[in-house]
Amino acid sequence: MKIIGPFSQIITLQNLSLKGPLQDEQLDIKEDGAILINDGEIVAIGKLTELQTQYPQAFTELIEEPMVLLPGFVDSHTHICFGGSRCLDYAMRNSGKTYLEIAKAGGGIWNSVQATRIATEDELLPGLMNRIERHVKEGVTTIEIKSGYGLNLEAELKMLRTIQKAQELTQAKLIPTCLAAHIKPKDFEGDEQQYLDWILQELLPKLQVENLTSRVDIFIEETAFSKTLSVPFLQKAAAMGFQITVHADQFTAGSSLVAVACNAASADHLEASGDDEIAALANSETVATVLPGASLGLGMHFAPARKLLDAGCCVAIASDWNPGSAPQGDLLMQAAILGAFEKLSAAETFAGLTFRAAQALRINNLGKIENGFKADLQAYPTYNYQDILYHQGKLKPTKVWVNGEAV
Ligand code: NIG
Ligand code: FE
Repeated sequence: MKIIGPFSQIITLQNLSLKGPLQDEQLDIKEDGAILINDGEIVAIGKLTELQTQYPQAFTELIEEPMVLLPGFVDSHTHICFGGSRCLDYAMRNSGKTYLEIAKAGGGIWNSVQATRIATEDELLPGLMNRIERHVKEGVTTIEIKSGYGLNLEAELKMLRTIQKAQELTQAKLIPTCLAAHIKPKDFEGDEQQYLDWILQELLPKLQVENLTSRVDIFIEETAFSKTLSVPFLQKAAAMGFQITVHADQFTAGSSLVAVACNAASADHLEASGDDEIAALANSETVATVLPGASLGLGMHFAPARKLLDAGCCVAIASDWNPGSAPQGDLLMQAAILGAFEKLSAAETFAGLTFRAAQALRINNLGKIENGFKADLQAYPTYNYQDILYHQGKLKPTKVWVNGEAV
């Protein structure tokens, strides 16, 4: 048993709804509080001296400076396992080149596929570990990581095995997802339908045998997979027992309706969502995940987070950290900037980075400071929680814990 404290403020995020708008007045703030941890879980919250009297056997990790405690962030959407770099794409985009021109110059997703295919597991692992360690240092204690730069049996297995290996080297919780349906690889002999069938019949069963992932994603877009073929693909993946999620409405609207119809755990991107899509998401259990890092990387408008919340959606905020559209990867900075443009309360931003993002992964004991929740925590060197978003990502946590253990 361990007590950690005292903290100037503990922002518990207790009693906030899973869906819809939130006001800062609703935040539960425990002043000068401490927490008791047992077996990696929070078991009590109270004043330091009271906890010490009640649990004399517990060791105290004393916090000697003013600090604000938050739950660790959950980044429910990343592509941080990859080879190569796409700095040329970025430069070309910023000099006004089109998607097609960039693809013709050898850029785009296919560029990362080629660079990832030629890398060995040992070559992919250090880059992946660097990104994981940076995230953990910045308070992100759960990280979803997609495959999707392999796009053949050998390379998809390699990516997911590398993520599995990374899990042995980090305290952070890694959630792997198969995104073989990212684009149809140029060297696949067959059409879109045949490629999706190959994923369902050949790839996914092997991933199940090796226990490499229990989640499946698909990119539905004019340049990727059609809505028509995605519906049976998602239904079949779900019937095999996979949790499903969709890259939806990034450039054209409508694919979030597929996500809702298939009861996906989340629909991610949503930059192009219109009123119909927003209403459908609000009336569903599908989490609406916005990815401000992709808007920043591509220089395009943000997803309509304010409208999604006001309509009643469960809005999560994730980084989409990837070599192409979202190379920056600073989740807190991205969320703070999104909040300034979309007029999000701190409660909405923190909820989107924690328990609402955990809901996108269907994990229910993560993202709040509450009895029975995992002791994944981060502390910022300030008296006032409002300082955190005010600094737009430049104020970083100086202490991070996973399962109650300092990292
Ligand atoms: O989420 N939209 C599709 N996939 C990624 C981009 C991946 C890449 O460009 O490498 C995304 O933005
Ligand atoms: Fe993505």
